[in-house]
Amino acid sequence: MSFEILGISSYVPKKVLTNYDLERIVDTSDQWITERTGIKERRIADENETTSDLAAKAALKLFEEISFNPSKIDAIVFATATPDNLIASTACSFQAKIGARKAFAFDISAACPGFLYGLKIADGLLRSDDIEYVLLAGAETLSRYVDWLDRTTCVLFGDGAGVALLKRSTSFNKRILSWNLGADGNLRDLLIMPAGGIAMPFSKNALDKRLCYIKMKGREVFKNAVLKMQNSVEDVIRKAKIKSSEIDWFVPHQANIRIIEALRERLGLPKDKVYVNINKYGNTSAASIPIALREMLDRKLVKKGQLVLMTSFGAGFTWGSILIRW
Ligand code: COA
Repeated sequence: MSFEILGISSYVPKKVLTNYDLERIVDTSDQWITERTGIKERRIADENETTSDLAAKAALKLFEEISFNPSKIDAIVFATATPDNLIASTACSFQAKIGARKAFAFDISAACPGFLYGLKIADGLLRSDDIEYVLLAGAETLSRYVDWLDRTTCVLFGDGAGVALLKRSTSFNKRILSWNLGADGNLRDLLIMPAGGIAMPFSKNALDKRLCYIKMKGREVFKNAVLKMQNSVEDVIRKAKIKSSEIDWFVPHQANIRIIEALRERLGLPKDKVYVNINKYGNTSAASIPIALREMLDRKLVKKGQLVLMTSFGAGFTWGSILIRW
C-alpha cells in the first residue's frame, strides 16, 4: 500500500521585503545578509492574513488546477510552528476555509521539518483501507514571531505555505523508500520563543523583555543543523541501499545557503542536483520544502520515477529526511 501525489501547490504573500528594506529597519546590509545567508528577499503576510489563510490559498489553487472536490478529503495534517490560535487548531480553520467537510483535522508542531514529519504521518494514515485522500499542509506566518529589533534573526525568516494532496494507491509498493526522523529536546533552548505558551504566558513583562519573539543562538543552530541533517541523510541513503550518486534531486530545507553548501559538500552531491530558492523566500520553516517542490514541478525539473531526497532541521531540535520515488 502506498500513495500517489495528486498535486503540490504553494502560496506566498504578495508583499516583498528586500534586504534593502531591512537596512532601514535594523543595522544590517544587503551584503552581510547575502554573504552570510544567501537571502535577498522574503514575503510578509498582510496584517489580517493568517497561517490558515496562506495554506487555504495554496489548496484552493490546487483544487482548481486538478478539478478536485475537497469534500472527498478524509484527513488534514497541518504542520506549523505559527498557528492562528493556540486553541483551536489551525488545521480546523483551514478545513473550514477549504470546505473539506468530511476531513478530520489536526496540527503537528515539528517546526521546519514539519512537512516531513507530516508526510510520514500521512503515509501511515493512507495505509488504512478507509482513508483515501490526505491533504498535507506546511504553512507559516513567521513574520509575527520575529523580533524586528533583532538583526540576528529578523533577516532570516519569511511567510508562505505549501500543500500536497495524497491519494491511497496500490499501484506500487512503496512511495517512501526510506526515512529518518529525529528530535533532541535537550537542545530546545537554542531556538525557542520563550513566552506565549503555558510555561510563560503572554504578559507585559514578557513583552517588555521581548520574550514573545524567536530567540536563537545562530552559530550553535548552524553547527547542529549541518551535522544532524548529514547524519539523517546518510541513514536514509544507507537504509534505501542506494548510492548518493543515484539521487536525482536533493531538496534541503532553505535556512541558510551556507548550511546547504556545507551539507552538499559533506554528502558529495553535485550542485545541479540541489534545489535552492532561499534567495527569494528566506526560511519559511514548514513551508520551505513544499514551496521548493512546487517550483520544481512548475519548472518541469522532477520527473516520474526519479529519486527525490528531502531533508530538514529546526526548533526542538527536530530533524528528518525522506527519500521518495516520484
Ligand atoms: N547584519 C549585520 N551583522 C550581523 C547581522 C545582520 N543581520 N546579524 C549578526 N550580525 C553580526 C553579529 O552581531 C556578529 O558581530 P560581532 O562579530 O561584532 O559580534 C557578526 O555579525 C557575526 O555573527 P555570527 O552570529 O557569528 O554570524 P554567523 O556567520 O553565524 O551568521 C546566522 C549568523 C544566524 C546567519 C547563522 O548563524 C545561521 O544561519 N544560523 C542558523 C540559522 C538557522 O538555520 N535557523 C533556523 C533553523 S531552522
